[in-house]
Amino acid sequence: MAQIDGTFGGQWGDEGKGKQVDKQLRKQKRDSDELYYQAIVKPQGGANAGHTLFHNGKKFVGHLLPSGMFVPDMNMYIGAHVIVDPVQLWGRDLAEMVADKDGNKKQRQNGEIAILQDDFGIDITSRFYIAENAILQGPYDRIFEGVFEYLKESKNGVAAKVGGTGRGIAPSYANDAARLGLRAGDMLYSDFKERANDFIEEQSNLLFKYYVAICGVPVDRDLVMQRVEDWWKYVWKIKDHLVSIEYEMRTMLGAGKNVFVEGAQAALLDRTWGPYPYVTSSNTLPSVIASSLGVPTSVIGNICLVVKPYVTKVGGGHFPSRMTDAKVEAEFQKAGFEFGSTTGRPRQCGHFDLPLFARALNLTGASQLYISKADICPVDTMYMVESYDTERGYVDGFNRFPHRYSDLINPKLIEFPGWKKEGNDLSLEFYSGFYNYLENFAAQATNNKIKIIGIGTGENVDDCRMFD
Ligand code: IMP
Repeated sequence: MAQIDGTFGGQWGDEGKGKQVDKQLRKQKRDSDELYYQAIVKPQGGANAGHTLFHNGKKFVGHLLPSGMFVPDMNMYIGAHVIVDPVQLWGRDLAEMVADKDGNKKQRQNGEIAILQDDFGIDITSRFYIAENAILQGPYDRIFEGVFEYLKESKNGVAAKVGGTGRGIAPSYANDAARLGLRAGDMLYSDFKERANDFIEEQSNLLFKYYVAICGVPVDRDLVMQRVEDWWKYVWKIKDHLVSIEYEMRTMLGAGKNVFVEGAQAALLDRTWGPYPYVTSSNTLPSVIASSLGVPTSVIGNICLVVKPYVTKVGGGHFPSRMTDAKVEAEFQKAGFEFGSTTGRPRQCGHFDLPLFARALNLTGASQLYISKADICPVDTMYMVESYDTERGYVDGFNRFPHRYSDLINPKLIEFPGWKKEGNDLSLEFYSGFYNYLENFAAQATNNKIKIIGIGTGENVDDCRMFD
């Protein structure tokens, strides 16, 4: 019976899911002529995600595309809950600037499909599909994210900011929920231009007549105009890739072909179950497979959760396991190259967090675990948070979780000896200490339903030990 398996983030994002997915998909190509997974699907989120992949030693940073570009013949789908930005995919010579890791603004030249064509000689256009009911991002959405963050900051200070990735994801989901926006498949109809123009005009009125004129929010008019112009230039490209994802999945599964889903963001950033409002705007848990792909939950098979031996977080909100020593945090940032692939921001680093790990296991129902970046151990002693205090007692992952994550204080730490990388593997200290404890904890939290399937030991796709 064909099924849909998937990989999801088990922490605060940036766990290295992309590489694990890439590895899993490439491996099957080597093992057999027939692909076990016929397609990879991105179920939610948008260009806020960022995954760094290495192909023939060259780095590719993907945002909107799922990580199937380097697997020949792999069909790549964008699901119905995804925010599709045509400029991010097809744009060329974009005026937009993004910051590098030092905060310097640098020119981002091209969209993802264009980069793959120009820099890697890979043309995915014949195997790339977009759900008709995917959410079409409007040209104003990134601007609106800036407006809302500006208003929050000017009222309550920097700490009040959600600290989003600036990709306009929240405004796009908000427009969709308010039934104001556009869906990708709208362009199959003759009234698309009129509907899009109406939508853009409404957004422009809201921006300029209310937020700029009345609320006094500063807005770069030239950038807005450029966005609208770019949007119209590239939006038509979507048309050739539209499919009914529900029908495609039904047909594929019916023919005995399996599908792989690559979740974006992570369990702890889930809009409903994360630390609202410091969450992303989509539901990031595996249940999104059903609603985004239009399939029944019964076809969902193995869910793999990816975790690092430490955690990182970007954006606002309480970070309960954050390392208290800035020097140690800097060591992890450097060793793990913990700088946002979408924003360039340094990621805050924290200790592996058992209570939140248990929460992620409970919420996702994962049956597989992959420890990425297991080679990143720049210190002699590694720690895990075993429990937290709250005003109503302690939290260890097995008892009731508080409504607000900010209740979690006074992390109680347990320590493990550090380890070293040895060839393509790790020294014994890793397996006898950290790994062993994690494995037992995961087994206890899931009633023995989870298995560790591999560890990542370096940045290349082959630096990875799979245990089966
Ligand atoms: P947004 O998804 O851009 O609205 O950002 C909301 C929150 O989710 C912020 O704290 C972001 O830093 C975080 N976030 C969004 N996408 C990612 C990701 O791919 N990795 C890590 N954090 C993310």
